[in-house]
Amino acid sequence: MKKLVEAVGLPLFEQIGKEIRPTDGGQDLYAACRDLFRTFENLETQIADRKGIRRGKLRLGVVTTAKYIAPELLAAFGEKFPGIEFSMKVSNRDEIIQRIKNTEDDLYVMGQVPTGEVDVEAIPFAWNPLTVMAPRGHPLTMAEKPVPLHAVAETPFLIREPGSGTRHAYLRLFAEKGLKPNVAMELSSNEAIKHAVASGLGISILSIHSLALEGTKGPIEILEVEDFPILRKWYLVYPRGRFLSLTAQKFVEFSASQEQFITDRLVKLWPDLAKYL
Ligand code: PGA
Repeated sequence: MKKLVEAVGLPLFEQIGKEIRPTDGGQDLYAACRDLFRTFENLETQIADRKGIRRGKLRLGVVTTAKYIAPELLAAFGEKFPGIEFSMKVSNRDEIIQRIKNTEDDLYVMGQVPTGEVDVEAIPFAWNPLTVMAPRGHPLTMAEKPVPLHAVAETPFLIREPGSGTRHAYLRLFAEKGLKPNVAMELSSNEAIKHAVASGLGISILSIHSLALEGTKGPIEILEVEDFPILRKWYLVYPRGRFLSLTAQKFVEFSASQEQFITDRLVKLWPDLAKYL
């Protein structure tokens, strides 16, 4: 540290009371070092890219609900580019934002682009519609359609945990309409919510993607409700200014090319969706 101070010719730290803080010169040096490390990291990726996309790594961070769509995308991408290794971290929205800040992964799949918290590029690539779901035979499934939103708000409701993007989207809609859901239970997983809905503990609002495996003819029904579906999109997100590896660039292109295929699959799952797209 002494040598560094001598080389720079300025104090790098100052003591204020008991606290030691970097001086302006210290902060400049820190920012320059950070840029240098980033440049070297980018150079490493560029050199790997010149060797071709036959071998590479793709680290994906996805919000919990995207776990219904990201593995299939990775599988189809992997078929096109065998030899690429994948890792996928699944967390809720708040945790994914933290991972973006720490640049822990190459790309992120999110349902709502962060604004303010972190500066990002976001590329939309597929629909993520949210619908009201009820157990088969629930009184609301037999009520006149579309079911008014206040009737949904009055029915015992299973809510996702704070930090969930899905929760954020439907609470905003309820608030805009001056309503509040009648929360019966909070659960931090879509799968737990599906089981709780099927068991008759309440109704909920989930992405249609969450029914991809069992379909809409099972124990859970999609309700036609006013102001629904909430039409959201999936986005591929990365920190603005970050150099994307060739593998990551190809994955962005590939995901965008899958949009129609994903839409067709959603419509097959819930044909009424076609009316709203
Ligand atoms: P989540 O999904 O509710 O699993 O966090 C994120 C989103 O749809 O924004």
